[in-house]
Amino acid sequence: MSQSSADALPESLVVVSNRQPYSHEWTADPVEGAITTDDVAVTTATGGVTSALDPLMRSLGGTWVAWASGDADMAVADEGIVAVPPGEESYDLKRVPLSEAEIEGYYHGYANQVLWPLCHEESGRIWAKPTYWEQYRAVNERFAEAVREVTDPEDTVWFQDYHFALAPRRVRAARPDATLHHFWHIPWPAPTVFDHCPRGEAVLDGLLACDVVGFHTEPDADHFCRCVEATVPDATVDLDDGVVRYEGTETRAVANPLGIDVDGVRSRAEASDTDAVRRQMLGDTVPDPSIPVVLGVERLDYSKGIPERIAALDHLWERRPDLRGAFTYVQKASRTREGIADYRRYRQDVVAEMQRINERYGTDDWHPAVYTERRLSAETLAGLYRVADVALVTPHRDGMNLVAHEYPTACVDGDGALVLSELAGAATQLDGALTVNPHDIAEIADALERALELDERDRRDRLGRLQASIEALDSTNWVERQFRAGPD
Ligand code: F6P
Repeated sequence: MSQSSADALPESLVVVSNRQPYSHEWTADPVEGAITTDDVAVTTATGGVTSALDPLMRSLGGTWVAWASGDADMAVADEGIVAVPPGEESYDLKRVPLSEAEIEGYYHGYANQVLWPLCHEESGRIWAKPTYWEQYRAVNERFAEAVREVTDPEDTVWFQDYHFALAPRRVRAARPDATLHHFWHIPWPAPTVFDHCPRGEAVLDGLLACDVVGFHTEPDADHFCRCVEATVPDATVDLDDGVVRYEGTETRAVANPLGIDVDGVRSRAEASDTDAVRRQMLGDTVPDPSIPVVLGVERLDYSKGIPERIAALDHLWERRPDLRGAFTYVQKASRTREGIADYRRYRQDVVAEMQRINERYGTDDWHPAVYTERRLSAETLAGLYRVADVALVTPHRDGMNLVAHEYPTACVDGDGALVLSELAGAATQLDGALTVNPHDIAEIADALERALELDERDRRDRLGRLQASIEALDSTNWVERQFRAGPD
């Protein structure tokens, strides 16, 4: 790390996120008395937030505050705090346990049935029961209290994501001299969409207690300022500089695109056993396991555009019968937010569509689409990316989408093509993808056809440009840019 970038970092940090970087699970039924290391297994989270912030916390030290969601989380914690990572103990993880009612109202409620659909421009899915707001507010207050317990007056706190829009205002009241950062990992909508937000002014008021609010793209940061201008009467907004003055705080809204741990993904891909991954994923579905693979990897979230993608495969195989048997589509899906009816329905629809397409085109020798919900290790996933000839990343809207970063990075053999939604944040940052409108089924089919038939030079050239643009956004740079935007 260079001297100037290290200068931007605080001496220690408090991070606040919904998901924790490490969780504890019982390995067997817990026994009475002292807990030994054999009684629990520690799992490391694999998402973008952990891979960006865990190395930072390991080097700076400090406290990470998060929801206690593993089976044994609170049992191993002393007054809610456990030192992590295991064996290294370089920072504290402070866990906040939530009741069933809090999980329902805060997580399944206001966070994921109001803010998530709002910010992904799916306002028809917003459902705002009164308890959702009450619990969201109460949980934000509990997290703010947890932050107050572990901070000194001039500390730096970094809130992550839409789960914590209100906590910064509560922390600011108790810690007027602290430096408060926020990063909003999902898109921020235009004012005409934000108008649908129940309690929208309170959400903005909470965020405006921060010195810096980061977003993945310029349009997100600009939309935020425009929403403040339209919604918060007492705020002064400088749209050119992305600065808001309100209640004694100057808030900078900055575009700071998140990247991945490039070296980590690359070395896992290099170490992967691609033949074993092919056998594991394709099994006996095809006689020739070296068949080209087209890949989709996502949570079963309605913003991800999976049904349109299956329709595009259908359209392509209909239009180009010669491509039947020419490749297999692999959909790696993860179940998510199943406490919400929209998510349960979406999963059923995706599974039914996968089945339909296999029934329609499948032969004795060829299984057109493989669907798996199996949990894959980071190593196997990197191997799967490396095996894939084309990746389809076609969300309706996405803050960034790190699969679009991981796939090209894992193509360590210098070959592979990315079809990318022009409405993912990644499309504003990455050079070399074949971009599509994620609602346009014919366009997705055409882009896939093109990706499969690109000549080798073009494919390698595009991949090289993708890899270069991804490297420039490495997660270390993301951390440094965020702090450089803060007050001196
Ligand atoms: O994209 C926003 C985000 O919170 C990510 O940080 C995370 O990977 C994803 O959504 C998962 O959501 P959840 O925590 O609800 O499973």
